[in-house]
Amino acid sequence: MLDVSLTRQEMQGFCSTAASAYDGATLEHEATAKRRALAVLARQPDERLFEVAFGTGFSFTKQVKASGAANAVAVDLSPGMLATARAALAEAGVERPPLGLADARMLTFADESFDCVFNSSMIDLIPTDEIATVVPSSGACCGAAAGSRWLT
Ligand SMILES: C[S@@+](CC[C@H](N)C(=O)[O-])C[C@H]1O[C@@H](n2cnc3c(N)ncnc32)[C@H](O)[C@@H]1O
Repeated sequence: MLDVSLTRQEMQGFCSTAASAYDGATLEHEATAKRRALAVLARQPDERLFEVAFGTGFSFTKQVKASGAANAVAVDLSPGMLATARAALAEAGVERPPLGLADARMLTFADESFDCVFNSSMIDLIPTDEIATVVPSSGACCGAAAGSRWLT
């Protein structure tokens, strides 16, 4: 885990401010890795999906377009990212997108609420103990890390 010393408020402020420019600054390097991670996960429509730290909604939009919004939930810490992701999902025609604000270190889901977890560029920044409780040990956890452009 990397040492990130921002408070929750600082992280929310930083990411909310960055939201509108985020994809423009990152996708050139990260889009291929994210697409590959989604393909590896290959979530099926009946699988309960949890995406943690959805950011602008780039990956979650692709997930729900490919496998449906039913049984899917995604959370992020930053209100600015939530607004940006909502707009992306609305533009993709997803009504009532199952997005919420939550801190991944303090989730309120019951244990093993999901079959698979997806993340990109965040799970290496925070403790994952809480996230691990929401999937059974037989579940899938898949994602792309910030440096995974080297894997493309
Ligand atoms: C580097 S961005 C990655 C966003 C997206 N997953 C992507 O790959 O484009 C990190 C994201 O994690 C969110 N985040 C940071 N700490 C979080 C936490 N404790 N719980 C939930 N989301 C968090 C931020 O709001 C931001 O959207």
